[in-house]
Amino acid sequence: MRAILVANPKGGSGKTTLAVTLAGALAAAGQNVRLLDMDKQQSASTWLSQRATGLPPIWPFEQTQGTTGKEGWLIIDSPAGLHGKNLERALKLVERVVVPIAPSMFDIEASRSFLTALQAEKAIRKERAFIGMVGMRVAPRTRAAAILESFLLENNLPVLAHLQDTQAYINAAFEGKSVFDLPARLTEREREQWQPLLTWLTATQ
Ligand SMILES: Nc1ncnc2c1ncn2[C@@H]1O[C@H](COP(=O)(O)OP(=O)(O)OP(=O)(O)O)[C@@H](O)[C@H]1O
Ligand SMILES: [Mg+2]
Repeated sequence: MRAILVANPKGGSGKTTLAVTLAGALAAAGQNVRLLDMDKQQSASTWLSQRATGLPPIWPFEQTQGTTGKEGWLIIDSPAGLHGKNLERALKLVERVVVPIAPSMFDIEASRSFLTALQAEKAIRKERAFIGMVGMRVAPRTRAAAILESFLLENNLPVLAHLQDTQAYINAAFEGKSVFDLPARLTEREREQWQPLLTWLTATQ
C-alpha cells in the first residue's frame, strides 16, 4: 500500500481539502483508496461518512472490508500543529508527503521549521520525490504563485501544482464528494490543475 501523508502544521492551510480531493481523484481513477484521519476534528472522517454509496468507493482506514490486501493507496490527513516526535513518526510510515501551502508571508513563516524537518527526513532517505509542495488557493501563473515558487525553490522544494481558490471544493465537500465526483465539464480547470500532482504521485520512484 502506498501511504501518502498530507501535512502542514499551519491551521487552515488546506490539508483536509487536499487529502479528500486526492482520495477522490484516485478513487475516480479506479484505484483502491483508504483514508486515515489523524485529526481530532475528524473533518476528513465526517466528509467520508457523508459520501454516497454510488460514488467511487473510499474506505475508512479502520475498515478492511472491500479493500484488497496491501494493494492501493492510504491517504492520511493530519492535524494542525503536527511536529516533533509525532511528525517524525508519521513521516516514517509514509512513502511521500504532500504539503499544501498558501502564498502568504504568514503561512510561509509558520511552515519554516516544518519544512526543515521534512528536508532532514528527505536527506536520510535520499529520495528525490519524497516531498510534494502544493500552492493552495493560488491561481497558476500569478505573481503570488511566482513568489511562493521562488521561496520554495530556494529551499530546494519544487512546487508541483497550484490549486486555485474555487467554490467547487467547498460545494463538493458538502456532499462527501471531491471535485473529481462533479461533472467534468464544470471542473475542467480544477482537474487540469491537479494533473501534475497526480502524475508525480503515480510515477514510481
Ligand atoms: N482551493 C480552495 N478553494 C476554496 N476553498 C478552499 C481551498 N482550499 C481550502 N479551502 C477552504 O479553506 C478552509 C481551510 O481548508 P482545510 O480545512 O482543508 O484546511 P486544513 O489545513 O485541513 O485545516 P486544519 O488545520 O484546521 O485541519 C476550508 O474552509 C476549505 O474549504
Ligand atoms: Mg483539516
